[in-house]
Amino acid sequence: MTGNLLFAIKKLRYGDILTLPNLEVYAGRVTCIMGESGAGKSTLLKMMNKMLSPDKGEIYYKGTSLEDIDSIQLRRKVIMLSQTPLIFPGTIKENLHIGFKLTEKDSVGDEILEQAIHKMHLEKELNEDSGNLSGGEKQRLALARVLLLEAETYLLDEPTSALDEETELKVLGNFITEVKKKQASIIMITHSKKAIDHFGEDMIDLAQLQE
Ligand SMILES: Nc1ncnc2c1ncn2[C@@H]1O[C@H](COP(=O)(O)OP(=O)(O)O)[C@@H](O)[C@H]1O
Ligand SMILES: [Mg+2]
Repeated sequence: MTGNLLFAIKKLRYGDILTLPNLEVYAGRVTCIMGESGAGKSTLLKMMNKMLSPDKGEIYYKGTSLEDIDSIQLRRKVIMLSQTPLIFPGTIKENLHIGFKLTEKDSVGDEILEQAIHKMHLEKELNEDSGNLSGGEKQRLALARVLLLEAETYLLDEPTSALDEETELKVLGNFITEVKKKQASIIMITHSKKAIDHFGEDMIDLAQLQE
């Protein structure tokens, strides 16, 4: 594999949960993280976003150790969508705006917000209340929220687990198309064989890496 190194993981250990050898993740790719439930996938992603720190080993982002990167600065570039995305009380529009606030980025107009939710196949109006959305609709709202933020890297933790397969493939396809336009990178945890077949370019299979 050649290309620009995005993440370099050096002999990582997190308690009894995760022990990893050296790993490399390349820029501009869709890297899928696989592994059974409880394998430590979410733990690994949280360490890549500095929400957790390893007990041993180190993670480098574009050649700099995460220890030497300010967490807030890192999270402006490396944006994480957690496994249970937070939806705040209020409208869809307010929920989209929260992404800009949290990352201290400038907001955009309604037309762009509408385009983002439609690309994520969320057929709702911006002024609708987000409290009434189903689990799958909340996932699509959360995906739209991160898609609107200009990031270098998107860390997605089972982003479409509540969607039917057909919708999952459409939503992920659109998300990845947009990210590729920005020449950004995706690291995604998924259990979906179809999603991996369609979109996975590089794989990290925790089952094969951990003894
Ligand atoms: N904050 C925590 N404290 C202790 N154990 C945890 C914590 N978070 C997760 N775990 C445990 O670590 C293991 C890996 O969790 P996780 O990374 O969420 O797995 P996955 O995302 O692969 O399902 C699980 O056994 C889980 O119960
Ligand atoms: Mg998980």
